[in-house]
Amino acid sequence: MEQLQGTGTRERQPFLTDIETLRQRARQHIEEGAVTAGYTADRDTVVKLLNTALATEIICQLRYKRHYFMADGIHAEAAKAEFIEHAKQEAEHADSIAGRIVQLGGAPDFSPEGLATRSHAQYVEGVSLLDMIKEDLVAERIAIESYAEMVRYLDDDDPTTRRLMEEILAKEEEHADDLRTLLERLSAEKGGR
Ligand SMILES: [Fe+2]
Ligand SMILES: [Fe+2]
Repeated sequence: MEQLQGTGTRERQPFLTDIETLRQRARQHIEEGAVTAGYTADRDTVVKLLNTALATEIICQLRYKRHYFMADGIHAEAAKAEFIEHAKQEAEHADSIAGRIVQLGGAPDFSPEGLATRSHAQYVEGVSLLDMIKEDLVAERIAIESYAEMVRYLDDDDPTTRRLMEEILAKEEEHADDLRTLLERLSAEKGGR
């Protein structure tokens, strides 16, 4: 009888492709780079979705930069620190997404034309510090919803892209939480003034 490592009495699951088949499949279509025959997602759709996420990240970075430079007043210091940190992280997200698009054989869309339309989140300048923080929070919540939807869509068909989007999603949730904290502090400080 066949012994299975650490699986006790469980039956062997037929999930492993034999090594010869794996090697053969890797040699076929080698021009496809990281995309192998085991890739079951609709690649064009995934690239399209990633390009909307890329636009979202670029718009968010631009909005945070604007807010960083424009935030003013006695309550602005903590907000400025968050704005510039978020701007940097949105830029990193954009780079990771662009890299994954290339791995999938697509082209990252960095065109300024139509950027705001491709993005799910909006570019809102905001007049007061409070406006800025609120708009950033709205944008983060939009990103969170659209990335969560992407993660569900990708499922097991493209686990690498899914993991990337899960990591980014976790960061956006942190951003939203930072902004919520800022809003609370700002209201408390203004109220106590
Ligand atoms: Fe981001
Ligand atoms: Fe964010």
